Amino acid sequence: MLTEKIKALKIEKDAVILAHYYQTGDVQDIADYVGDSLELSRIAAATDKKMIVFCGVNFMAETAKILSPDKKVLLPVEKAGCPMAMMINKKRLEDYRRANPERIVVCYVNSYAEVKALSDVCVTSSNAEKIVKHFRDKKMLYIPDKNLGSYVKKKYNLDMELWPGYCHVHNNLNLADVEKAREEHPDALFLVHPEAPLAVIEQADFVGSTKGIIEYASASDKKRFIIGTEQGILHPLKKNNPDKEFFPLSTRMTCYNMKYTTLEDVYNALLNETHEITIDPEIQKAAKKSLDLMLELS
Ligand code: 13P
Ligand code: SF4
Repeated sequence: MLTEKIKALKIEKDAVILAHYYQTGDVQDIADYVGDSLELSRIAAATDKKMIVFCGVNFMAETAKILSPDKKVLLPVEKAGCPMAMMINKKRLEDYRRANPERIVVCYVNSYAEVKALSDVCVTSSNAEKIVKHFRDKKMLYIPDKNLGSYVKKKYNLDMELWPGYCHVHNNLNLADVEKAREEHPDALFLVHPEAPLAVIEQADFVGSTKGIIEYASASDKKRFIIGTEQGILHPLKKNNPDKEFFPLSTRMTCYNMKYTTLEDVYNALLNETHEITIDPEIQKAAKKSLDLMLELS
């Protein structure tokens, strides 16, 4: 069986398999660790294994390589990318920095290494609030997610400019979705990811990262929840809470990039050691500074 072959190969290659909560259920089930962006970065930074197989999208595997440059980091499907990370690039950020040297650049981890390398500090959805609060007296630019940026900017009344990027999965959620879901499930709590538009976030009972949403639902006495984030999260939610019910806010919440990876890809990645992530050493060093500061402050 493929699962058994993956487990055997993983031991032979001294590898750890990491998977994001948006991966398919069978990929999450084969992983050693399933987590949100912050948790997976921490595991990647601390692992003593020689190889990291990252089941997610390329900015996540890059982050693992930046934090653990001596490890072999593999992304099973090379084309698994993040459209939001592509909404900013080095040249445009350099131009911005030149024109606005006074602004601290706060960079969402959903970005590429060369963009992280030009930033002052990184954040994830689970530590963004804590980190921006640390810089609350400074002028900031938040890149590339305008939605998460708007949420923290309003909540803490910050002098913050917002890059006009977004996650298409969350950005197309709207108030009509919330009204419909509330009508269909009037007794359910609404939990949302901060990549959703501010108007949607403002309707929620809880706002948090994927891990935050899972922890909140698991700890709650309530039994029914409307979930405003990518549908892969339903797998751990249902697995951890068999007595509770979860209703997706919309049927449009699928990140196709997160769904490319199959068990066969994981097996092939381990067998052939593909596709290896490489990063220019200067970029790796500079990007690591922004990530290390994030880990220190969170
Ligand atoms: P988190 O897992 O940090 O909540 O991030 C969500 C996401 O969009 C990853 O692509
Ligand atoms: Fe990017 Fe959104 Fe997919 Fe996450 S869910 S990888 S932010 S497109």
